[in-house]
Amino acid sequence: MADAIEFIQAEHRNLDRVLKVLDETLDHLSADGPKPNLDLLFSIVYYVRVFPEKLHHPKEEQFLFPALRRIRPELSSVLDELERQHVAGAQHLERLDAVLKSFDREYPKGLDALLDAGRRFVRTQREHMGVEERDVLPAAKVFLSADDWAAMRRAFAKNMDPLFGDHLETGFRALYERITR
Ligand SMILES: [Fe+2]
Ligand SMILES: [Fe+2]
Repeated sequence: MADAIEFIQAEHRNLDRVLKVLDETLDHLSADGPKPNLDLLFSIVYYVRVFPEKLHHPKEEQFLFPALRRIRPELSSVLDELERQHVAGAQHLERLDAVLKSFDREYPKGLDALLDAGRRFVRTQREHMGVEERDVLPAAKVFLSADDWAAMRRAFAKNMDPLFGDHLETGFRALYERITR
């Protein structure tokens, strides 16, 4: 049981490290002087798209939330809200991607929109993980069955993280070095 929870918590911690780099990078952006290098921001958007968005959140919806809904119906409103946040999170990410591309194209125009979208993304993802850690994972620890845990363990153990997993994807090397330095 514990290891399936640990997979989820480790994925949250890793996303939080990426959000921290996003936040710090936004703090140092300016629209004065030569155009800043935006590669790190493009890498962050790409990472969130291919790992948390594609694997982490969907597996929560596929395994964790339905198992909890079955045995703790009183959690249904918080689980509904978390599922709405998954949808909103994907929209916030697409917005961030769009404003990043337009800042890249139209520099120095568009800094405020980029800061706004980036900060909103950081804040809402942290709030979302906070609710899961506070309201969902402790209940899961207490109430889920051994079969539920086995299914979750199988599902989450298969998640191949291209940034924090065993094989660092080449395109994420600069981001990885920034996170671990
Ligand atoms: Fe989630
Ligand atoms: Fe999560």
